[in-house]
Amino acid sequence: MAPLIMAVLGSPRLLGNSAVMLETFCQGVTDAGGRVELFNLARLNVAPCRACGGCEQDGECVVQDDMTGLYRALERADGLVLAAPVYFGTINAQTKAFIDRCQALWARRFVLDRPPLPPGKKCFYLCVGGRPTAGYCQNALAVLKNLCYVVNMELTGHLAFPGVDRPGQITALAGALRQVRQAGRDFTLSLHEQRE
Ligand SMILES: Cc1cc2nc3c(=O)[nH]c(=O)nc-3n(C[C@H](O)[C@H](O)[C@H](O)COP(=O)(O)O)c2cc1C
Repeated sequence: MAPLIMAVLGSPRLLGNSAVMLETFCQGVTDAGGRVELFNLARLNVAPCRACGGCEQDGECVVQDDMTGLYRALERADGLVLAAPVYFGTINAQTKAFIDRCQALWARRFVLDRPPLPPGKKCFYLCVGGRPTAGYCQNALAVLKNLCYVVNMELTGHLAFPGVDRPGQITALAGALRQVRQAGRDFTLSLHEQRE
């Protein structure tokens, strides 16, 4: 069976830079014979974590919203690609809500002593920021690293583009989308290899 990649768009700009990068990455996935399941966080209802501790009983979140479907998607996917912009120096709010709700997976691992997810999953992060500042992506990347550590996913790589602000501006950045598409191919090929 072809590897299944869960593609998560974190930006609320449906035609923005993250959206373009994610679509291009997914083209690379299909080039390499992978399958894609796409989720758009801005179109979903994912509330912030309430820190109620309910998940510490059974590893399931008590909040009934669209995150329920996202947990199931995380469980079945072989890989996760997340495209999200930098807001105020870190990952944007829609994406952070999704990440914080992975507290239920934290509870599986660190409270209930169970695997947070089936093992062997990989993750790739696509980052964009408007300011042409060195290190603009550092905090967002640190958040992603933390997520991957908690849910026991390998962060195999990331691509980050500073100074890209207007919606779709990424298309004018020489070589950027070629790199993103190649990353999608390579990511998928590594998942194929893992299955062999
Ligand atoms: C509320 C808000 C906060 C932002 N904060 C930052 C920031 O701290 N650093 C930065 O480089 N860009 C910042 N930006 C610019 C976005 O990262 C930039 O416009 C990016 O291209 C948006 O990606 P998208 O098109 O995928 O939505 C911010 C944008 C918004 C709307």
